[in-house]
Amino acid sequence: MTVQPIVVSELVKEYSGRGKKITALKGISFSVNEGEIVGVLGPNGAGKTTLCLILSGLLEPTKGTAYIMGEDIRKLRRKACEKYVALYLAEYTQWSLNPRIPALKYLVMVGAIDCIKGDLKRKAETALKKVGLWEWRNEWPSRFSTGMKRKLLLAAMLMYDFPILILDEPTVHLDPASCVEVWKAIKAIASEGRTVLLTTQNMEEAEYLCDRIIFLHKGSIIASGSPEYFKTLVSRYEKISLKVRPLKPEFKKTLERLDGVLRVRAEDTTLILEAQKNTVKPATLIDLASQFNVKILSMSYERPSLSEVFRILLKGDRKWD
Ligand SMILES: Nc1ncnc2c1ncn2[C@@H]1O[C@H](COP(=O)(O)OP(=O)(O)OP(=O)(O)O)[C@@H](O)[C@H]1O
Ligand SMILES: [Mg+2]
Repeated sequence: MTVQPIVVSELVKEYSGRGKKITALKGISFSVNEGEIVGVLGPNGAGKTTLCLILSGLLEPTKGTAYIMGEDIRKLRRKACEKYVALYLAEYTQWSLNPRIPALKYLVMVGAIDCIKGDLKRKAETALKKVGLWEWRNEWPSRFSTGMKRKLLLAAMLMYDFPILILDEPTVHLDPASCVEVWKAIKAIASEGRTVLLTTQNMEEAEYLCDRIIFLHKGSIIASGSPEYFKTLVSRYEKISLKVRPLKPEFKKTLERLDGVLRVRAEDTTLILEAQKNTVKPATLIDLASQFNVKILSMSYERPSLSEVFRILLKGDRKWD
């Protein structure tokens, strides 16, 4: 029987400091199969980076544990990054990448320092091509833009032959074309049978890349499933933007009470209604506006983003606070 590369078991992480205790992970459990790409999606502060650090052995769990290639991370600790895990942390790109040597040489040097086996020059060349930095191979990384530095760091990671890749927000600050290059590189890695756990706040990225998505919110898993499952979830709701003049609080209150409306928020002179799909008809809004002597300047119906849907689902559910 093959071992599951990542098994997370009732993992809890508490941070303490300045007399305050923050529970960043509240007893989460899940596992990742060989060759699978799993995306951990969640807003700021959800616990994504904390999870990546624990799974790489750089941070100790408070309770519970995780198994990396069958080994308990509490015993494995930093050896996880020497034996099994290539870790990419977008947050650290800026400070670590200012070498004044050509990018290709830099990667070969990194490989040598980290005792990566095999033909380092060939590996560095392949990695640079995979992230779309080939034409920059003779330039100094100190002159790279933030996005290019991120791609170089990702290229360095691709040189390791480890079975697991943990990527914390791999495409944040990359332009759309670079995102697609990086996504392709990640897909190629998984197709080699390697396992990828990545974090993101970008639903499009998760949909494109992931076999499975885990939604983390305030340290708890609130939903998990295939990208199709999440697409269906999103399709049950709609976002209606109403540009109005004037913006009357009593009109907003009445909209909040309409059947199917879950939330109404005001942005300047626009009211944004989050509602169950097909429950709020344009005619109803026009009638109501005229009753309140409010002019509708524009009206549009859109698909909400996944994070908006989660905000809707979490609204009023104190369980997650
Ligand atoms: N070193 C630390 N000391 C104290 N609290 C911390 C520390 N690191 C993280 N936290 C807290 O733990 C929680 C989770 O943080 P974490 O960085 O894991 O979230 P995240 O999902 O990666 O967020 P982001 O999307 O902003 O990167 C937050 O409330 C954060 O304030
Ligand atoms: Mg983070």
